[in-house]
Amino acid sequence: VARILITSGPTRQHLDPVRYLTNASSGRMGQSLAQAAVEAGHEVVVVSGPVEIEYPPQCEVIPVVSTEEMLATCQRVFPNCDGLIGVAAPSDYRPVKVEEHKIKKTGEPLVLHLVETPDIVATLASTKRAGQWVVGFALETEDQRFRAITKMQKKSCDLMVLNGPEAISAHQNAIEVLAPGGEVVANLSGPKFEVARRLFSVIAERLIT
Ligand code: C5P
Repeated sequence: VARILITSGPTRQHLDPVRYLTNASSGRMGQSLAQAAVEAGHEVVVVSGPVEIEYPPQCEVIPVVSTEEMLATCQRVFPNCDGLIGVAAPSDYRPVKVEEHKIKKTGEPLVLHLVETPDIVATLASTKRAGQWVVGFALETEDQRFRAITKMQKKSCDLMVLNGPEAISAHQNAIEVLAPGGEVVANLSGPKFEVARRLFSVIAERLIT
């Protein structure tokens, strides 16, 4: 039995108390992977941004809002896990400043200053101890395979799952699973639940001892 950390869903970066930056991630792929892992008998901790869906009741679910919060939570949980599946779509940018009060309209254009948020998968993977593994996802719109392989190496992932923008918020998915040498180890498509179950078998076969 492995203990698996899954990051899932989008994150939100507040501009003020009522407005935020986010993306259309539904958490459905994370939900399906959690289901597959639980069915295979593993312990699952899901760290999730705000989503409408529910995770399997057998999982421990830790809800978070921002990318920084997702990272801090994962840094606490990962040391006691065997592996990480980073399927979340964390917001890559945050406003430099979160206004305490609602930003008021002035009739003038509003310029937002954004800075990059930390990369959760890369940060956790850099702390991997022997036996720990990390699976990343790459959503690419051009030079897909090349960019995914580069990302896998940069983020020290043991497998990288490549999908296109049509995956976001959809019920279907088509993915390519890449190993660190760049070889395609699986090509899967269909409903997310199906794809997740087959993807989890690939992960289990290659990474879970
Ligand atoms: O670089 P890109 O965002 O395309 O990489 C996607 C992978 O990195 C996914 O596995 C995603 O969960 C992870 N990621 C992350 N923290 C971020 C941005 C992306 O863990 N801030």
